Amino acid sequence: MTDNTRYSIGRFNFGKGASLAPMAGVTNPPFRQLCSELGALYSVTELISCHAIIYFETKPKNRTKKRGEKTLALMDHYKGESPHVVQIYGREPDLMAEAAKIVEREGADIIDLNFGCPARKVIKNGNGSGVALMLDPPLLEEITRSVVNAVEIPVTAKTRLGYSKDAKNGVEIAQRLEASGVELITIHARTREQGHGGDTDFETLKNIVDAVKIPVIGNGGIKSYEDAENMIEQTGCRGVAIGQGAKGNPWIFREVAGGMGRPDIRDRVKTCRRHLQFFSDWSGEELAVLEMRKHAAWYLKGFDGAAAFRNRLGEATSLERFNNLLDEVDLILDKLNV
Ligand SMILES: Cc1cc2nc3c(=O)[nH]c(=O)nc-3n(C[C@H](O)[C@H](O)[C@H](O)COP(=O)(O)O)c2cc1C
Repeated sequence: MTDNTRYSIGRFNFGKGASLAPMAGVTNPPFRQLCSELGALYSVTELISCHAIIYFETKPKNRTKKRGEKTLALMDHYKGESPHVVQIYGREPDLMAEAAKIVEREGADIIDLNFGCPARKVIKNGNGSGVALMLDPPLLEEITRSVVNAVEIPVTAKTRLGYSKDAKNGVEIAQRLEASGVELITIHARTREQGHGGDTDFETLKNIVDAVKIPVIGNGGIKSYEDAENMIEQTGCRGVAIGQGAKGNPWIFREVAGGMGRPDIRDRVKTCRRHLQFFSDWSGEELAVLEMRKHAAWYLKGFDGAAAFRNRLGEATSLERFNNLLDEVDLILDKLNV
């Protein structure tokens, strides 16, 4: 990888490799821990609403990991996570500042502001938060300044090229973020219209990189070492963040750092067991078996009968049943002589 891939956020220094991009429902502590072991430079929690943080902070009894009540648990870190980066979103500058203070008090090392999420319940027809704030650059700037002024820890932001292909104001947004005191910007090289898929636009990403002095991390569509190198070479971004390319393939971080990529299915099954254990240590058995079904489906690909096997993951109703199913995969692989 090219040599300008060194950057810092506050006291944290990063070199060659990639970070794990935030993904709701995916980048919880167990997955972040796994990605970190495999070389992710750092990772980011999924987006957390400032309203929810303030609400749940005042009702500590609601702090459980069960669905619907898990907001503050989303801020959990895994043992030894450093830096611990928590992503928040919201539209009201004062509430965002209040939530940021809580996040800082809870032990986060860095706060990341979400100005990129296209989910309907977040953007609320353009009047809400996430990527909708790209439509209101002065408000986006006010929110950012309000948070930066409220906390001692570094603040970063994640946004997109623009709201639509006809409204690519990523350069203006990046300049406002820089002027507000943000230390690093991650740019998802797509517009809101494109959601999380479709072609990335390196030309606009390069314009954004060239328009600010702070590090810009490129994101979007990276599935291999070559993809990462290509994005860095073509845009001059200081590093890359990987989202969907890490699902079922946390080894991508090792690969992008110059090491080995995805191992064979035997090792993937072992990793799936390990991931399951991390998950259950964090959340308890019930949530772990539910949530790990999708991860297992991502890991268990590429052997004869894999699709049929994935259909059976619903049978994994306890840790024991889950591990028994994985034993069955090992037996299938023995038979296939894999
Ligand atoms: C299921 C899912 C959930 C996501 N959740 C978040 C989120 O909470 N915060 C955020 O900034 N981006 C979120 N994203 C966007 C990713 O961080 C990333 O920008 C996007 O997937 C493009 O990168 P990729 O092509 O490497 O996946 C999400 C993406 C997906 C697919």
